[in-house]
Amino acid sequence: MSRSRTFAEMAMERCDILGALSDEPEHLTRQIGGDAMRRAHEQVGAWMREAGMVVSRDNIGNLRGRYEGATPGGPSLLVGSHLDSVRDAGKYDGPLGVVVAIAAVQGLHDTKRRLPFAVEVIAFADEEGLRFSSTYLGSRALAGTFDFSDLERTDASGVTLAEAIGQFGGDPARVSDDAWRGGNVLGYCEVHIEQGPVLETRGLPVGVVSAIAGRAHYHITFTGEAGHAGTVPMRGRRDALVAAAEFVLAVEADAASHEGLVATVGQLTVHPGAVNVVPGEVAVSLDIRHSDDNVRLERTRHLLESAQEIGSRRSVRVAHQLLGENASASCSPHLASLFAMAVDEAGVPVVHLVSGAGHDGVTMASLTEVGMLFVRCKGGISHNPAEAVTVDDVAVSIDVLGRFLELLTTLGPE
Ligand code: GLV
Ligand code: MN
Ligand code: MN
Repeated sequence: MSRSRTFAEMAMERCDILGALSDEPEHLTRQIGGDAMRRAHEQVGAWMREAGMVVSRDNIGNLRGRYEGATPGGPSLLVGSHLDSVRDAGKYDGPLGVVVAIAAVQGLHDTKRRLPFAVEVIAFADEEGLRFSSTYLGSRALAGTFDFSDLERTDASGVTLAEAIGQFGGDPARVSDDAWRGGNVLGYCEVHIEQGPVLETRGLPVGVVSAIAGRAHYHITFTGEAGHAGTVPMRGRRDALVAAAEFVLAVEADAASHEGLVATVGQLTVHPGAVNVVPGEVAVSLDIRHSDDNVRLERTRHLLESAQEIGSRRSVRVAHQLLGENASASCSPHLASLFAMAVDEAGVPVVHLVSGAGHDGVTMASLTEVGMLFVRCKGGISHNPAEAVTVDDVAVSIDVLGRFLELLTTLGPE
């Protein structure tokens, strides 16, 4: 059996182990600063040490494993992904990239090979932003773009991010120390499941990412007037939910009629939320993405205006708040070409694709060059417990990552 296949079996087992570490008993949910994350760090830290890495944890809660290069203090290549998840998640979105990176380093360690650069594996603390309605807290800390006002964000129980960091063993006042200080960085690379159907449709195990789409997310409230469901006449009602429902349909219609635009209302809370009360206030989320930031901004403006128009027609007040925004990020043409060469060497036809999903590369792009490799996932399904990859495809990704490291060694950074 090839080494990549053996490592792939190990990677699959490790995803199973991490997939069982959850903050919620009935499904997989792993959040920044939680107990499941603490247990995940114990596991991942042990695997990093086994692969010859020196392990540390920074204040925000990223776990870092460093495999020194031939000359200590030389340049570093950062490779990783995230350990947090969405609610009721699959087990590969994030963890696969961490365990595949560790496997690639294990391959170097087993053969006592030192590259002309260090490989630092990063397991990011928070990419999904589930707990604090944030995004990329871990990679923003590492890239040096952490926004300190985020420390005041609260989770569903009122715990602030600052408190959560403290409870996890970090110092919230020193998150700026997490910014990369390790000298010259050659790039940040990530292996991730595709989370879409392109590779499966083309019958390919892996693909090279050319860019990551930009994204923004909003909190929008519709405030009407609560009233008695049996006595308030239908005419003249100020029902916040029907206004919000009209907005949800407008979002769907707009995204469907603009090529490449995806827009989603994934959260909806109805107040007071009783069967016999006309809804007085409704809050919805809006997640909107496009690879062209100008298109995204133009459609966002249009949708927010539509919300106002729907509100004024129904005498419902509408307010919105921008919770997070990231411009689209291009992957480095040089790192993408090295990944393409590595894929070709592995005997796989090369395909380049744009990521509709967000990744830590979006923020790491402000620190260094970014390269990404996608792995085919079953049915293109992700953010869903049905997420699945095959051991054969994971073996290809480990093989390609190993070849990529060798190509970077021989051809160098740009
Ligand atoms: C992260 O997975 C995102 O794209 O929402
Ligand atoms: Mn995700
Ligand atoms: Mn992810």
